[in-house]
Amino acid sequence: METKPMDKKIDHGTVIQRANEAIEKNTDMVKKSQYRLGYHYMAPAGWLNDPNGLIQFKGEYHMFYQHHPYSSDWGPMHWGHAKSKDLVNWENLPIALAPSEDYDIGGVFSGSAIDLDGILTLYYTGHVDEKTPKEVQCVATSTDGIHFEKHTANPIIDYPPVDGSFDFRDPKVWKHEDIWYMVISTGKEGIGKAVLYKSEDGFKWDYIGVVAQSDGTLGEIWECADLFPLGRGRSHALITSLMGPEIERCKILLGEMDYAAGQFNWKHVETMDYGFDYYAPQTFIDNQGRRIAIGWMDIWGAEFLTKPDGWCGAMALPRVIDLSAEGEVRYLPVVELEQLREQHIAFRDVGRTFGGSNPLEEVKGSQLEIKAVFDPAACSAQRFGLKVRCSEDGTQGTRITYDMQAKKLSVDRSLAGLGAGGICTAPLELTAGQKLDLHIYIDTTSIEVFANGGRIVFSNRIYPDVTSNGVELLGLDGHVKVESLDIWTLRSV
Ligand code: FRU
Repeated sequence: METKPMDKKIDHGTVIQRANEAIEKNTDMVKKSQYRLGYHYMAPAGWLNDPNGLIQFKGEYHMFYQHHPYSSDWGPMHWGHAKSKDLVNWENLPIALAPSEDYDIGGVFSGSAIDLDGILTLYYTGHVDEKTPKEVQCVATSTDGIHFEKHTANPIIDYPPVDGSFDFRDPKVWKHEDIWYMVISTGKEGIGKAVLYKSEDGFKWDYIGVVAQSDGTLGEIWECADLFPLGRGRSHALITSLMGPEIERCKILLGEMDYAAGQFNWKHVETMDYGFDYYAPQTFIDNQGRRIAIGWMDIWGAEFLTKPDGWCGAMALPRVIDLSAEGEVRYLPVVELEQLREQHIAFRDVGRTFGGSNPLEEVKGSQLEIKAVFDPAACSAQRFGLKVRCSEDGTQGTRITYDMQAKKLSVDRSLAGLGAGGICTAPLELTAGQKLDLHIYIDTTSIEVFANGGRIVFSNRIYPDVTSNGVELLGLDGHVKVESLDIWTLRSV
């Protein structure tokens, strides 16, 4: 597929129609790709990055996303669109937004959605990189939730505030006590930050100031900042994806929001996902009061092995973010995913001595859910865990291991197959008597690991041979015993 330059001054409807035709033309070819995931969201064809405009509108979940319909490379951004009743089965809808105006001709960048008195209202960044590069904030509305019109007052914010710079994007809008607030990501002089605006009607916005910024260790530019109450109001969180000289990860800052001062006073920062492939998550609150995050399960600079197959990019599984009774952040896959379960196999108190035969020999699958509970007190091994997507000869596999001495959990994809290898590691301290629980989702070319009730999460893309489908119990330096192990094969959607 070839990148097709966007013609200027063609009306929005026509640009969208062309983009939809390009997708339709390539959908069947893309379906044949051996790398397509079974139950994660992907665009039907072309390129996908950030989730945008997540909302439950008139009872249905809507997800928009950064999309280049004309090729599997990033290009002038459109907003792809899908909806779902359960966050698992997604129905693709026509492309919602396309670059068509002077203020967004370089791309319709990331943003968010609100329900404005029954009108589905999208806020996005208009990106222009021609003679005068610019990023401005825009709005588009829809009465049917499918066809969107760009507002005549666009751009609604057409220059960055003094505290920001050219990088001024990804508006996230929410309501607090009858006032609309918008946080926009930016950075200035090497300090990533988020700036805050407010509005009474959703169209006229007033600048408040810098709501939060890096202490010098958190990236030069913030992207996709999202500010929300957490744990039913016990705390506030700001998640942001960091741009800097190195590939950074996505962080969650925890603290208190002071609306009177327009400031988020953060006291603590954590990595939101320790895997190699998680970026630009966005959250929304649903009818059940759940704060749900969806992230892009890839990262800028990755190898993107699917590109020759006409597509690129997938969303990570939707996860509920909450605070535990102790005030710790937890990320749990939405329960709706249980509908994917097919065959179940359970093991209780199975062990393996280093060098001994693998008790999980009969388990096979490239789409699996695994729940494992290890009791370290019953293991003489200091490093233990599981290996998944293993080849018959044992040379290929992705290892998830806990190191008792280092107090670290890691996912090692050095021998996972094609693509980038590497080991990602997270601190995880087990108190005396505490068990290690792992909840793992494997889907063709991905692995997501939720450890200890969602305290630690890893999302990774992996590209093993299609025949590498085994699961192995690992005790790397002694005996390992798994107290309970439940494995389900998962169907495709
Ligand atoms: C984050 C990001 C956003 C931007 C979009 C462009 O991945 O860089 O800041 O709006 O992607 O596609």
